[in-house]
Amino acid sequence: MEGRSIGTERGRWVPESPAWWQRGVIYQIYPWSFADASGDGVGDLRGIRDHVDYLAWLGVDAVWLSPIFPSPGVDLGYDVSDYRDVDPRFGSLRDLDDLVAALHAVDVRLILDLVPNHTSDRHPWFEQSRRDRTNPRHDWYVWRDPRPDGAAPNNWESYFGGSAWTFLDPPGRWYLHSFDPGQPDLNWDNPGVRDAIRDVMRFWLDRGVDGFRIDVIWLLGKDPELRDNPPNQGWREGLPDYLRLRRAYSEDGPRAHDHAQFLRSVVDEYPDRVMIGEVVLPPERAVAYYGTDLLEAHLPHNFALTEVRPGDALDLVVADWTAEGIRAIVEHYEAVMPEGAWPNWLLGDHDFPRVASRLGPERARVAQMLLLTLRGTPTCYYGDELGLVDAPPGTRGAVTDPQAATGEERDRLVARTPMPWTTGPNGGFSAVEPWYPIASDDQALTVERQRADPGSLLHLFRALIRLRRERPALAVGAYRSLLAPEDVLSFERWHPDVAVHVHLNLGPSPRQIDLAGGRVVLSTAGPTAPAPKVTLGGYEGVVVDVSASE
Ligand code: NOJ
Repeated sequence: MEGRSIGTERGRWVPESPAWWQRGVIYQIYPWSFADASGDGVGDLRGIRDHVDYLAWLGVDAVWLSPIFPSPGVDLGYDVSDYRDVDPRFGSLRDLDDLVAALHAVDVRLILDLVPNHTSDRHPWFEQSRRDRTNPRHDWYVWRDPRPDGAAPNNWESYFGGSAWTFLDPPGRWYLHSFDPGQPDLNWDNPGVRDAIRDVMRFWLDRGVDGFRIDVIWLLGKDPELRDNPPNQGWREGLPDYLRLRRAYSEDGPRAHDHAQFLRSVVDEYPDRVMIGEVVLPPERAVAYYGTDLLEAHLPHNFALTEVRPGDALDLVVADWTAEGIRAIVEHYEAVMPEGAWPNWLLGDHDFPRVASRLGPERARVAQMLLLTLRGTPTCYYGDELGLVDAPPGTRGAVTDPQAATGEERDRLVARTPMPWTTGPNGGFSAVEPWYPIASDDQALTVERQRADPGSLLHLFRALIRLRRERPALAVGAYRSLLAPEDVLSFERWHPDVAVHVHLNLGPSPRQIDLAGGRVVLSTAGPTAPAPKVTLGGYEGVVVDVSASE
């Protein structure tokens, strides 16, 4: 079969001197669950430091750490009560400095999770703000008087269910919380708030942190008039209640872009840092967060391969994991990206079901090959390199997910379980019972077993990272779709030096592909002898070295 282009044209921009965050692979660590060094059942910074050799062995370029700041833990750290310290459950500032040094020593960067849309209700800023309306910090949060009948100021809903407003007396007003009532939204229209967050960012950047993942960046822009969200015309019985309204005014307004630019300007005060934006929107709206002239997020997260909940559509959009479905997603994303912007991909994070559970274990390998061969920075969620699965529904730990507490939404904690390091007690995660049970007692899903097995997913994951490092075509090359047999997703990654072809059989039946004279350099199925024709087994993928055809 001819490797001819059927989609995006070759010749898109290939960065000449790519930044580390373009070339590299980002690995997300959920600090509660990576490794417990202190012996209290909760993961911590020393635990991560103890496993820096693992991260170096794996070959990742950066760690994105979910929040480690002091927090009452209502939303497991996404409710920050002090932006300039480390929560004692995770260690101390000293531990953070040690971790940065240990990571940098092996050339791995550290990205912190910054939560600027809201604080904890225990943050001193909110404690001052709520005292009375004359307090200088009162306007740092979004307060409104009751309507004449005493009701909440508008119909906005919390992501965790119910009204997004809670009444407090004093000050006799309602405050806005896009999430839990314990997470009041900051008022980004107040310059004092912007300055305070800028100072927080400088505090961490001065300590040598390499950038931020900005939580819910698209929520920073709310309608200044706080107008009611309009009803979703097509809502029908059976769809969740939170889809009854379109979030037209409560988020993704023009000011979100001003604020994103502001955040980026702070990151740009420091050389070689990165700003990632969480933007859970359909791709055509998410890419707006690259910004005019690319002055917002370097990498607005691209959730197209997970599941997105669009603000103005009716349903959950779940990626269609067929060759045709994925090709359409990739080509659409490539087409809507602004010129010169750098793509990124992820298969999930701490808010989504794990990819191996969503797609089934048989597709776990080909899914990782896809993630690590598409054009753009891959972000891998800890444990996915093992094919870790979700804990069974109904599993209970020491804390509860506020989202699941509404009863309408799934429990996100099932995908935040302790990392299974060994076949020993508690998976080698902790000397005591972990804060949340290990997801699976399958010993094949431990680092120990998979490190010892050259045929494991872990070794495949590592080999893919190594291949990206060796071949600029994979790390930074252009993308174009190739003609492919049914069920197979084939694409070229082109670079002036050399090109590679990737063929991913997303179906269960064997398929023949043409190597176009190239040589298989990696297969999800293990070592493959070079041959002019290759039969891909069900759910098998290969990377093929081909000479540049132009
Ligand atoms: C997005 C985070 O990823 C999620 O875990 C959190 O609950 C909300 N933002 C609120 O901060």
